[in-house]
Amino acid sequence: MQAIHGVPADRLPDWVPLIVDGRELPAQSGETFPTLNPANGRELAPVARAQAADVDRAVAAARRAYEEVWSRVSPAERGRILARIAEAIAARAEELAVLETLDTGKPISQARTDVRVAARYFEYYAGAADKAFGHTIPLDDDHLVYTLREPWGVCGIIIPWNYPLQMLGRCVGAALAAGNTVVLKPAEQAPITAVAVARLALDCGLPPGVFNVVPGFGPEAGAHLAGHPGIDHLSFTGSVATGTSVMQAAARRITPVTLELGGKSPQIVFADADLEQALATTVRAILQNAGQTCSAGSRLLVQQAVHDAAVEYIREAFGRVRIGPGLEDPDLGPLITAEQRARVVQYVEGAQKAGASLVWGGTIPADPALADGYFFSPTLLTGVRPEMAVACEEVFGPVLVVLPFDDEEEAVRLANGTDYGLVAGVWTRDAGRAHRMARRLLAGQVFINSYGAGGGVELPFGGYKRSGFGREKGMEGLLSYTQLKTVTLRM
Ligand code: NAI
Ligand code: MG
Repeated sequence: MQAIHGVPADRLPDWVPLIVDGRELPAQSGETFPTLNPANGRELAPVARAQAADVDRAVAAARRAYEEVWSRVSPAERGRILARIAEAIAARAEELAVLETLDTGKPISQARTDVRVAARYFEYYAGAADKAFGHTIPLDDDHLVYTLREPWGVCGIIIPWNYPLQMLGRCVGAALAAGNTVVLKPAEQAPITAVAVARLALDCGLPPGVFNVVPGFGPEAGAHLAGHPGIDHLSFTGSVATGTSVMQAAARRITPVTLELGGKSPQIVFADADLEQALATTVRAILQNAGQTCSAGSRLLVQQAVHDAAVEYIREAFGRVRIGPGLEDPDLGPLITAEQRARVVQYVEGAQKAGASLVWGGTIPADPALADGYFFSPTLLTGVRPEMAVACEEVFGPVLVVLPFDDEEEAVRLANGTDYGLVAGVWTRDAGRAHRMARRLLAGQVFINSYGAGGGVELPFGGYKRSGFGREKGMEGLLSYTQLKTVTLRM
């Protein structure tokens, strides 16, 4: 494998194997598939294509490791191993960041953040491993009642391509800390770092079979994992459509699921807000990872009095955006695939046909140096009506729509007017209004005068409505990977 963009060849793996029972394996079929560099469409490495038989093998390894090894390791010792994984990720930060940028296309400084956050998840859950307390319940004088937080057993975890390292950290870190073993299916578009971290974990003394990785396609490896009788809990992050089929597969065996299904999160800017801060943050949040963020603030709800000023601010900011390959650390990198870009183009064209005005962008950059990558310019649409697809569906691109409102009532109605409910941002100097809004917004996270898309290791995260259910991150995330037992003793 030759150097790409001056990155030493030894950073790139010759191939990406399965990690099963502590071993690096090809798929049993011997088949591979390519993972591409979204900046130029070229293959980075062949990846072992896990199919049903490989998933079966990984689930069996995870079961054996759970019963014979991991369930006998004390919580404190689990924590020590996770702490070593955190250190190992931090020690290999630059290498992992380069791999993440090559595989996903994101700007390298954002990939560096992802590595830092992934290490922090392992650090956080390392410290939490021996703190999954139960309760004692004061029933009456004759009884002693207490609860135990026990692991599910074998957890199936399916993650998407937008934040492989962060998603791995928040799910796998919590699942292992709680005492589960894991079979992880990374997305076919960006599987490299998941396999790299699983290798590091083995080097850190994580016993074989505790953390298995089966890269492969959704309808093959993913669907087989979701319906697998050997899986005790499923965690899925991705689209509503795929989440629905994961939940259906799980329903057949009453396998509990945590679903994180994205959003159409509003940034709600009142006229009394610090506009500079609100809009600068809004711009940053929608450009982050080219808008391919479940919690991207993709709707700007702005009070009438400051609508025109806000539009002008964002138009200027979008006009300054540097677009380029992630390794050059631009403001905006490529989208993940040609299909994803085609989807975004369709939303923007559809909005214009429906009467929205294109204030900025909406184009594929003309720069010939970018011609082979999946780039799309930052795009600002006004004159958008709430019922337009671009205003209520997840676009997953650098596309911001602006919707004006008159008062608090209308802001709440618009904000809550989609099927999603993941995150909301409220920008106002009126503290009473901020908290009124926080209560009325149907969203799993509300940020006031800030917006923490993606970050927040300590902050429970998950959806209202069709954004999903169950919580990842923070101590709630740890508890999601446990089941509760109530023990009653008659004295
Ligand atoms: P997807 O939801 O199909 O893929 C996510 C993960 O699910 C991948 O690992 C994939 O291999 C797996 N998967 C696919 N089909 C499966 C099945 N039948 N059973 C089990 N696992 C399966 O999302 P996709 O197609 O990559 O992107 C489409 C749209 O989904 C995006 O445009 C975006 O709107 C949304 N999305 C949202 C994400 C979020 O963070 N909430 C992440 C990725 C996509
Ligand atoms: Mg890739």
